[in-house]
Amino acid sequence: MVNAPEQSVQSVVKVRGLRNQFGSTVVHQGLDLDVRRGEILGIVGGSGSGKSVLMRAILGLRPPQAGTIEVLGERIDQGASGRSLLRRRTGVLFQDGALFSSLTVRENVEVPIKQHYPAMSDSLRRDLARLKIRMVGLPVAAGAKLPSELSGGMRKRAGLARALAVDPELLFLDEPTAGLDPIGAAAFDELLVTLRQALGLTVFLITHDLDTLYAICDRVAVIGDGRILVSGPLSEVEDFEHEWVQNYFHGPRARAARQAGRAGS
Ligand SMILES: Nc1ncnc2c1ncn2[C@@H]1O[C@H](COP(=O)(O)OP(=O)(O)O)[C@@H](O)[C@H]1O
Ligand SMILES: [Mg+2]
Repeated sequence: MVNAPEQSVQSVVKVRGLRNQFGSTVVHQGLDLDVRRGEILGIVGGSGSGKSVLMRAILGLRPPQAGTIEVLGERIDQGASGRSLLRRRTGVLFQDGALFSSLTVRENVEVPIKQHYPAMSDSLRRDLARLKIRMVGLPVAAGAKLPSELSGGMRKRAGLARALAVDPELLFLDEPTAGLDPIGAAAFDELLVTLRQALGLTVFLITHDLDTLYAICDRVAVIGDGRILVSGPLSEVEDFEHEWVQNYFHGPRARAARQAGRAGS
C-alpha cells in the first residue's frame, strides 16, 4: 500500500455529485463528501442548510435527484437492495430522538434487536438490551422507566443505546446535544469518544455545538450553498475564506470553545 496513499484511508461513506430538491427548492447541488473509517466527522452549517436531509439521503431514506451514495461499499441511491444488512450495520439517532413513548427504555432498545434477530429468545434479548443501557452510562433501573420519566440527557443516552442495539459500525447522530445543558453535553461527548474507541465506531455527527467540535471531532465538514464548502481538520477549516465559516469559527463563542478544547486535549 506504500504507493497508494488514497487507499490507506478508507471511506465508509462516499457521496458524489449529490442533488436533493423539494419542488423548486434546491437543497444540495453537486455535494461531495467522504466519511473515513474510525473518525468522528462533525457536520456543521446554518439552520436549513441541508444537514438533516443529507443524513437521510445517506441512510437511503430519500432517493436523491442526482448523484451517487456509497455506504460501506454498497450503492444506496439506486433502490432497496441490501438495505436490511446496511441497516444492521448502521445506528441512527434522529434530531427529535423519538423513543416510543409507550414503551420502557429497555423495550425501546429491544425493538431493533427483535427486528434484526427475530429468533432470539426473550431472555437473551432482554439481557442484551440491559447491557446496552449500561454501556451508555444509564443505571439499570432506567430500563424500566418510560422516556417521559427521564431527564433530557438520559433520554439522549437511551436513544444512543437503541442506536447501538445491534452493534453497528457506523453511527449517525443529528444534533445529539441540542437542548442539553453544557455539563450534560460535555458528558455525552465524552461518552461518544469512549464508545468510538471501545467499539471501533465511525461517527457522522451533525452539531452546531462548537464545544463538541473542538473537543471530539477529528474532522469537520461545513455545508453551505448546497454543497460541502470545506472539510478537514478544524485548524484548516477555520481559515477557509467564506462569510458563514468566518462568522462561525471566529465569533466569541468559537474562541472560548477553541481554548477549552485545546486545554482539554
Ligand atoms: N420533507 C421536506 N419537504 C420539503 N422541504 C424540506 C423537507 N425536508 C427538508 N426540507 C427543506 O430542506 C432544507 C434543508 O433542511 P434540513 O436538512 O432539515 O436543514 P438543517 O441543516 O437545519 O438540518 C430546508 O429548507 C427545509 O425546509
Ligand atoms: Mg436538522
